[in-house]
Amino acid sequence: MPRTICIANQKGGVGKTTTSINLAAGLALSGNKTLLVDMDPQCNATTGIGLTPVERHPLVVDQPIRNSVLQSSFDGLSILPGSKSFRDVDMLATAASSESEVLIDHLSVGTTQYDYVLIDCPPSLGHLTQTALSASNEVLMPIQCEYYAMEGLAQMIDLIRDVMLERPGQLTFGGILLTMYDSSLELTAEVDEEVRDFFGEVVFDTVIPRDVNVTEAPSHGKSVVDYAPRSRGTRAYLELCMEVLERD
Ligand SMILES: Nc1ncnc2c1ncn2[C@@H]1O[C@H](COP(=O)(O)OP(=O)(O)O)[C@@H](O)[C@H]1O
Ligand SMILES: [Mg+2]
Repeated sequence: MPRTICIANQKGGVGKTTTSINLAAGLALSGNKTLLVDMDPQCNATTGIGLTPVERHPLVVDQPIRNSVLQSSFDGLSILPGSKSFRDVDMLATAASSESEVLIDHLSVGTTQYDYVLIDCPPSLGHLTQTALSASNEVLMPIQCEYYAMEGLAQMIDLIRDVMLERPGQLTFGGILLTMYDSSLELTAEVDEEVRDFFGEVVFDTVIPRDVNVTEAPSHGKSVVDYAPRSRGTRAYLELCMEVLERD
């Protein structure tokens, strides 16, 4: 069975998609068969890796997952593409719990051949995120080093707790990742301290610096690991990858 990690935070722009793509690339690079699942109707994970969103969301169509999986240009990295279809998004987002059970089963049955499955979540606390959490073994939460970094996290943590209670022993806190880290800013140091004080050990030692290569990579349809292998962003994501592998 794969280790399934959901990348979630209800805020937009904190680095969920960036982390999903680049951690997935790092895991693939270290020899793990990796599937990136795009659950966000914005489909940034799909386009960011150079692929095109699909008409119907692979999780709602009545077909084996493997028929919908696309290969990225990066060795070992496959993707279950996202869909912008409002109908499907609506279906995914409002699925009754019995229906989301079907989706979760569908995903788990269809992904047994992978070592890692990474799910890129939309910026919401809705059903879509809940379904993603329910399908995962771990949740990784990126936090942007910015004012109000921790604002609203309580609700996210409540949602995670709910899923943990519903599925005892299945979902764990995989880690918290500080993104867009700028060590020259006092604000970054303050956020770092606040987050580590509050969450302790669960915060990754690795922090992801602001790096223009990270921003540019998706417009080339590549992970930063592929686009700029020697960049600071790549180094940071590969270091994160080592931490994730060690936490197994
Ligand atoms: N480490 C980084 N350095 C520079 N830009 C970044 C970094 N991480 C993310 N970004 C940029 O910030 C924006 C939001 O990131 P994204 O991963 O799309 O967030 P989310 O998926 O949480 O909405 C994107 O334009 C992305 O390129
Ligand atoms: Mg995103």
